[in-house]
Amino acid sequence: MSKIVKLDALEILDSRGNPTIQVMLSVESGRTGIAKVPSGASTGKNEAVELRDGDRKRYGGKGVQRAVENVVHVIQPAITGTEVCEQEAIDEKLVALDGTSNKGCLGANAILGVSVAAAKAAACEQDAPFYRYLAQREAYVLPVPMFNVLNGGRHADNSLDFQEFMIAPVGAPSFSEALQAASETFHALKDILQTKGYETSVGDEGGFAPRLRSNEEAMELLGSAIDKAGYQVGSGIAINLDPAASEFYEKGSYVFRKSDQSRKSSSEMVELWKEWLRRYPEVYSLEDGLAEEDWDGWTALTRELGTKVQLVADDIFVTNPKIFHKGIERRIANSILIKLNQIGTISETLRCIEIARSNSYTAVISHRSGETDDTTIADLAVATGVGQIKAGSVCRGERIAKYNRLLEIEHELGHRASYAGSGVYSRWK
Ligand code: PGA
Ligand code: ZN
Repeated sequence: MSKIVKLDALEILDSRGNPTIQVMLSVESGRTGIAKVPSGASTGKNEAVELRDGDRKRYGGKGVQRAVENVVHVIQPAITGTEVCEQEAIDEKLVALDGTSNKGCLGANAILGVSVAAAKAAACEQDAPFYRYLAQREAYVLPVPMFNVLNGGRHADNSLDFQEFMIAPVGAPSFSEALQAASETFHALKDILQTKGYETSVGDEGGFAPRLRSNEEAMELLGSAIDKAGYQVGSGIAINLDPAASEFYEKGSYVFRKSDQSRKSSSEMVELWKEWLRRYPEVYSLEDGLAEEDWDGWTALTRELGTKVQLVADDIFVTNPKIFHKGIERRIANSILIKLNQIGTISETLRCIEIARSNSYTAVISHRSGETDDTTIADLAVATGVGQIKAGSVCRGERIAKYNRLLEIEHELGHRASYAGSGVYSRWK
């Protein structure tokens, strides 16, 4: 047992060069936990509030000095003396201290930094790796990684309306071989793009953002890259989608502004996804196929496709237990995307994963498009055993940090770790 004795925080930069917060939390024994908070770009409307200074003279208003001050001057006096291992009590105090439903007073960035730093310090106190502190298990499952290798939507200046085209090496026997398969496919894709005269510069999450003609061309290129790298499209390496449909939803219609300017109703979008899944059986997961406001559409989409494909809810559930419960009642989706900073504490994040489990939903642990070298999500994926993670492409240091951490965990666990692999795919096929 060890009590919290000190909190400190500072403004650092994320992978986009924007400010974010780092929190250091120390306990009686002198041990310290450190957390660095990520930041999204295509954010859901109901996400917990990321506190920004709004002072245009610093970082275009994006500074986080107020969040830093909240950690040091408001949160520190309130949680000093609390047992560091009592994560729920710490998180409850943070939520109560903030006093709002969206953490807009102290800032979800300040609160998450403290929540994660406390958990890290507690793990250190117990001399346990972070995943083992979060959940003690007999056997651990390493997640199937989904690599966002082709970008469109808000993340790229091209003709793709859909935001993310991901490869998931479901057929690999282990996590390390999955990473190898993804890396080889990523490089095969680069060769193909170069041969076709496309650009190979990468976007925020490390995926390529070539000026392709259509969403369909992106699917064809990925199929060719998997093939060229010597893997089986589908059962070897699946292709998954996050079109991030909230981003092209305008006044009740889905508008394909970046490609052919066409406009689709919600039911036409459901038809489009049915057609896509017929045409591309290698897809087992579709995230945010409809917009966060389109609850009726989501119910219809789930009725039509909910037994055939993993329908991941990101923007619509925003890792919020209350909204998730409502969504389950409305029979929306069959999977939830888990982003710690959408809700702001470890305890509420774990609650969402519990709710998923008890309602037969799957869960996918996720990074944000703005990241740091923090590797919390890698340990969280292993601790919870959800079997899936998305942490960007197979390049850019802040993405690779998560994958390298998973390699380290796999190495440490040896035969006590299995790879989620083909079970994740065959559930839908
Ligand atoms: P974000 O994008 O981190 O910019 O929100 C990721 C996603 O939509 O899943
Ligand atoms: Zn998403």
